[in-house]
Amino acid sequence: MARSLTPDQIRRYDDDGFVFPIDVLDPAEAAGLRRDLEAYENAAGGPISSNYRHKAHLLFTWANRLVRHPRILDPVEDILGPDILLWASTFFIKEPRTPHFVSWHQDATYWGLSGNDVVTAWVALSDAPVESGAMKFWPGSHKQPILAHEDSFAADNLLSRGQEIAVDVPEEEAVLIPLRAGQMSLHHVLLVHGSEPNNTDDRRIGVALRYIPTRLKQLKTQDFALLVRGEDRFGHFTLEPDPVHDLDEAAVAAHARSVDSNIKALYSGTQKTAF
Ligand code: NI
Repeated sequence: MARSLTPDQIRRYDDDGFVFPIDVLDPAEAAGLRRDLEAYENAAGGPISSNYRHKAHLLFTWANRLVRHPRILDPVEDILGPDILLWASTFFIKEPRTPHFVSWHQDATYWGLSGNDVVTAWVALSDAPVESGAMKFWPGSHKQPILAHEDSFAADNLLSRGQEIAVDVPEEEAVLIPLRAGQMSLHHVLLVHGSEPNNTDDRRIGVALRYIPTRLKQLKTQDFALLVRGEDRFGHFTLEPDPVHDLDEAAVAAHARSVDSNIKALYSGTQKTAF
């Protein structure tokens, strides 16, 4: 018996590789998380840095509450089962009227994980209408194997390596994924997806949460993850600590260790040493 998703939503995830929109935060909760992020940015003097966009849930108590939110984890459990790790989280922020885009790609390409039962929960903390550069998905593309990708390292590409699949995606088949603040989409790690620039006057703030079952392994390096539900009977990942206070000393150290490991996995074979 599923906790949260309907049989139709589970069928859509299996057939299409994604399901949306799912209401997870009420408007006040979503606005509160945005305020927490922007209070930090105001204090820091600018948009959150690229290293802190990764695994912010290890640094900030408000981000940690988000990745453990039952209304996010219930649908994820319907897909992955009861023992769940959060392997990574990344803020994807597009500032108003900026050229940044995400080329068509599959997430699985460089992650080094041993299986494809990986779910991304993409949670909108601002309204993310089509014009803001909402994600677009190629339905059913998760049934293909990992396709060849080419690294571009293009300046306006938000992806780590500017990677793009070397296959022409039929644009007429693409499905746009507009979300309201507090809604999420779920997508499969092999689903081909991308997004266009933000042509609105507001920031488009989303956070991608990468959940895996505890049985998966990292094949490239010693890796770290946060146990968010159930039990870890495998011990394949070093379990990460929750922050006690925002940016406390132990949290900053644990975050640096985990991000270093992610950089080693994501950029292996390149010269890059930072996000
Ligand atoms: Ni992606």
